[in-house]
This record gives sequence, C-alpha cells and structure tokens, in this order.
Amino acid sequence: MKPTNNIARRSLFALGVVACMIATNAGVQHAEERPAYLDTEKPPEARVEDLLARLTLDEKLALVHGDSIFTTAAIPRLGVRKRWLSDGPHGVREDVGPDSFRPSGRTDDFASYLPVSIALASTWNPELARKYGEVVGQEARKRGKHVMLGPGVNIMRTPLCGRNFEYMGEDPFLAARLAVAYIEGVQSRGIASCVKHFAANNQEWERNSINVEMDERVLREIYLPAFEAAVREARVLSVMGAYNKFRGQHCCHNDYLLNKILKGEWGFTGVVVSDWNGTHDTREAVFNGLDLEMGTRAPSYDEYFLARPFREGLERGDFPMSALDDKARRNLRLILATNAFEGNEGVGLLNAPAHQAIALRVAEEAIVLLKNEGAVLPLDAGNISSLAVIGENATRRHAHGGGSSTIKAFYEVTPLQGIVERAGDRITVTYAPGYRKDGAVDLVERAVRAARQADAAIVVAGLNHDRFFDSEGADRKDMRLPDGQDELIRRVVEANPRTIVALVSGSPVEMEPWIEKAPAVVQAWYAGMEGGNALARILFGDVNPSGKLACTFPKRLADSPAHAADAYPGKDGTVRYEEGLFVGYRHFDAKNIEPLFAFGHGLSYTRFDYSNLMIVQGSDAGESIAKVEFEVRNVGEREGAEVAQIYVQDVKSSLPRPRKELKAFRKITLKPGARQKVSIPLDRRALAFYEPSKGGWLAEKGAFKILVGASSREIRLEGTLRLPKTTFER
Ligand code: BGC
Repeated sequence: MKPTNNIARRSLFALGVVACMIATNAGVQHAEERPAYLDTEKPPEARVEDLLARLTLDEKLALVHGDSIFTTAAIPRLGVRKRWLSDGPHGVREDVGPDSFRPSGRTDDFASYLPVSIALASTWNPELARKYGEVVGQEARKRGKHVMLGPGVNIMRTPLCGRNFEYMGEDPFLAARLAVAYIEGVQSRGIASCVKHFAANNQEWERNSINVEMDERVLREIYLPAFEAAVREARVLSVMGAYNKFRGQHCCHNDYLLNKILKGEWGFTGVVVSDWNGTHDTREAVFNGLDLEMGTRAPSYDEYFLARPFREGLERGDFPMSALDDKARRNLRLILATNAFEGNEGVGLLNAPAHQAIALRVAEEAIVLLKNEGAVLPLDAGNISSLAVIGENATRRHAHGGGSSTIKAFYEVTPLQGIVERAGDRITVTYAPGYRKDGAVDLVERAVRAARQADAAIVVAGLNHDRFFDSEGADRKDMRLPDGQDELIRRVVEANPRTIVALVSGSPVEMEPWIEKAPAVVQAWYAGMEGGNALARILFGDVNPSGKLACTFPKRLADSPAHAADAYPGKDGTVRYEEGLFVGYRHFDAKNIEPLFAFGHGLSYTRFDYSNLMIVQGSDAGESIAKVEFEVRNVGEREGAEVAQIYVQDVKSSLPRPRKELKAFRKITLKPGARQKVSIPLDRRALAFYEPSKGGWLAEKGAFKILVGASSREIRLEGTLRLPKTTFER
C-alpha cells in the first residue's frame, strides 16, 4: 500500500468537509476558497501560521493539555478533531478512560500484540523494526489514534528495572538504530510517534521523585544518543518527558534537557508531552519546554497546570503570549502531520495477515539461542516420540500485563500451543506446570516424572508481568527466578539430559544453580501473539536462530555496573550514576568480569567464518571517514543469519574511554557454503567521544582498533584505522 497517497486522499476529503462547513458558517465563502491551513500544496509552516492566527485564546489553551485521560479537545469550528494518544510501544493499548485508566469496556479495541521492545532489539534488524513500526502505525490508524506513545529507549542500567522489557537494551548505538527505524515505520502511516521517557528514567524505584545525577559526558554518550537520533534522523513528532528529576528539576519541565538540548541543540520542532501526571508546576511548564500536559491528577481538566493557571498567568502578564503560541504551533504541526481533521476516520488495518506475519518474524529473529551443548537443539521431529513441556510460562499469556503497555490481544499463541501444534500427531506432548506462586513441591515431582518419561523436556521458565517482575511502577527485588524455578530446572535436567530451558522474561535472570548442567537454553522474551509458534519453529529447527542479546546477562547481580558501584537505587531521593560511562558490556570489559552471556551473544544452528578484513580509509572530507570491509561465510549445513558487529577501540585518548563500543552492525542471511562481502561506512562520530569542556564530539588523531565479531566477547577480526587529524563537531 502507498501510505502517502492515502494520506493525501484523506486530506482532500477532510478538506472538502471543512471547507463546506466554513462555507456554511460564514455564509459567503466559496468552497474553493479553502483555508490555507487545509491546503496541502502550501508549505507546512504557512499552514501552521494560518491555523494559529484563527485560534482564540481558549482554543490555543485547549491544544496544550488533555480533556480526558488520553485525548485533547477538538476545535469543531475549524474541523480539528479530538486528538487521541495511545500506548505503546508493542501494539495499540485497549481504550481506557475517559477520566481514569479503567478500561472503557469497548469491544472494538483489540490489537495485534507484537514482541516487546527488548525482543525487537534482540533481532538487530532495523528493517524489521521499520515493518514493526508500520504495523503499529497501521493499527493505530484503524483505532482512530493520532499519537503512539513509544518507542521507549531508556538504557538498561540495571537488570532490575521493571520496564526493561519496554526498552531496547543497554547500548546507545543499537537502541538508536532500532528506534529510528521503528519511528520511521510508525510515522510513515501518518501517526505521530512519541519517543520516551526523556531522559534518564532508568529505574522504576521512586520514579516520580527520584533525582538523577550523572556527568555530562555520560549523559551525552550513553543516555541521550537514542533520543538524539530519534529527533535528528527519524524526525520524531513528539517526545515524552520522564517522571524523574534530572539535576534537581522534573524532566517534564527541565530547562536543560528540553530547552537547551532537545529544542536548542537538536532543533526539535515537535511536541513535548508530559508523562501522565508528570507535570508539577505551571511556571516551569510554561517556560521550560513542556507543550502538552497529560494525565495530571486534578479535580478537573481546567485545573491542569497548563489550563486555568496558565490562562490567568497570561492575563496577568506573568507569561508572554509567545510562550503559548510556541506550544500551540508545535501542537498544530502534529495535527497537520497526523491529519487530525474531520473526515479522516476508519482507515488503517487491524490484525491483518501481514501483521501476524511480522509478529511471527520478529519473534523468530528475537529469540536468542544462549547455549546448545551436544547439539540438543534443534529437536529432530523424526527421532522423538514424546516431549515433556514444563513450566507455568508454557501456558501463560502476557499481552494483558506490564502496566501502560498492556494489549488486548486478538490472540496469543502460548509456547505449549505452539509446541503441540508443531509436534503433530506423532509426538506425544505431556504438560506439567512444575511450579506455582506458592512453590508447591508435588508439582515438581510430577514435572520430574514427566521429564523422565519423555525423549526430551522443555522447561518454559522465567518471569511475568506481575508486580516486582517485568512490570511498570516497581523494580525487581533481585535477579533470581521466582517460585522455586531454579530447583525445578535443576531437577528436570537431572531427570532428562535432553532438557531445553526456554526463558520468558524481559530482562536477565540468574542461572547459576543450573546453567552448567542444562545443555540448551534459549531466551524467548515476551514474544508477542505469535510467540509460541516462533519458539516451536526455533526448537524444531524450522527456523535457524539469529537473535543476539541487546543486554549483558551477568552471572550475578553484584557483577552488573550500577550494583557493583553501589549506585542503585540511590539515597535520600537522589541516584548518582557512579559507574559513569561503564554501563553494560563497557563495565564488564573494563573490570575484566566474565558475563554469563555477553552483549551481542547468540548462537545459530550453523557456523560463520569471518575473513579478509580491510579498512579502507576515506578521504578526510565528508561524513564517512572509513569503510570497514570483510567477508562472512556460512561454513555449516543450514541457511542462517549472522549479525556481524563492529566495535571501535580508541587506542590512546586524552580522556578514559570504554575498551570497545558498538559502532556498526549488519545482519546477513547466508545459504550453506555461501559468502558475502560486507562493507560498512564509519563516520567521525563513530570515533569520537563527548568532550565536556568543549561541549561537542572530539575525534582525536591516531590509531583506532576496529574489532569485528559475532558478539562483544567473540571478536573474530581486528584491524587498525588511523585518523590523520583531530576533529571536533557539535
Ligand atoms: C507511563 C508512560 C505511558 C503513560 C500513559 C505512564 O505511567 O510512564 O510510558 O505512556 O503512563 O499510559
């Protein structure tokens, strides 16, 4: 389908309706003299100015705050529709409201449930992220939404953050690449994406009040790049402020983050939306960059900080009209971009076969084969006649949980359903839950018996979206598997040497009690409505796994950076990011700590060889500074996909730098025996660090090691690039 044409057609329709309406109101206007703001031939800014000039004070104010939990008021006389915002990020949330988060009880608010964001990140496939975004956008259209609240790109600073599942892992470069593609996908469908939560919202603990302190360099190199790319590259139409404070000021009206960086340095011209009930002060909201206040707990919508108190301040002369005009303009840009005018309902698609296919493909590419000893996987369907499937997560559905990202899914294939379906009539599948919240022991015995009697056992273990697991509003209390699952897995592995552990979770779990003994482990995430089918297809080898971890799996919590630095969850209302730049693998590298599974790790049923690294120095001018070229060859027996990762190491630098940093990657699919030459350009920014004393990115002349590998700990090729002269850019 061609979205632009459709949008153009729809706007013509909208235009006709409004033009007629105006004709009726004014009594004299001819339909052809349509207002400039509806004339798609005119430059967008001219349309914005035209519409702004027509607005009364109250209408402008109506643009900058909610009139229900997820809408802003319509301006009927000008044909401006009620704008609908919706969560996000892995599908369109069920309708709630109008005045609370309670479901509104509709029957037409189902949506496709896509794999969660950490799963999407584990595909390392921006093209797929774009398709994912298109599905979200398409479904949002059909559901009558204008703004989709996602993606979430907060960096995984601790394995315990309750919302890790909604984010894209620990690396700023990877998160940026996927976020850009996702946003472009959503926005190609005429829906505004809203990247969140800006910024430094890396824990749920005291999320509404915690004050985050970190060095400028850390902010720029780790916590901002995904947002920066969303703004500068993907041209995201809205940005959601975070709940927490940053350097003492709430993020939803934080002068430094919003005025100086987002709007000043990055030139963001869209809408800053508050997180729901994240606004605390009218003056700050007026002056410090907030453009749309949502979700405030107030006796009425007119009591929102940017409603009556704003109006009164304007009338008293405390606030200049230009402050309101700027906010209104930004909202009008979004209204134009999403065509939120009358006559624009009912397009888009829900749960289309193509959406199901994307959900399946993302899940298949997201699942990470962590360990596979003695080639236990893939299961050979011709060679087994019985399978024991064990664990509550084999039958549990996860769509309708986790907090704001909850989805009323059309359907969700569980792992058990997927496995039974794939196993067919010839293989007997026995199911035993194995554990319950209260850790009932007899359940373990039954599971062990089932495992002993079967040719192979699959334990579907992990977490869920209950409070204190992968869920909004609270962090996990530790990194362990709950409810006696460690003991269950240990016993099942003992009973059947062909045991596969499939972990359903949105963040790392400790595996110490059983990892040595378990021959095969896959990280299956919350893999969306097709998750069970995807898992079965991976286990039976219909699909060759190609997912790679977007976050380090530490052996124990104390190994991970924020915890090693005793810098989580903070004291006296403040959390200081003492680990600095050394987040995720940057820390494990610096401290020489062996992770359980490294960032970028993921096995395949085939093997890939890397060879012929060449670093082609570019000219000194232009963006691309060098090209990294090498060959990847599939030397195994199956078709498969490999994510080749390029890390850069600054051999000598004036400020300390991580030992390696991901700066490029490419996912390539190869038939057995096939080879492919990969050629990836590197720009200056790939070599640079943020120099706080200069306020910009410094690439220092000299040698840089280029490390090409299958994971951050499996470097296959190494070369050197020389930067002939130091460069600096803002
Ligand atoms: C969450 C946001 C979400 C909003 C609206 C907040 O609690 O932090 O991510 O978009 O609610 O549901």
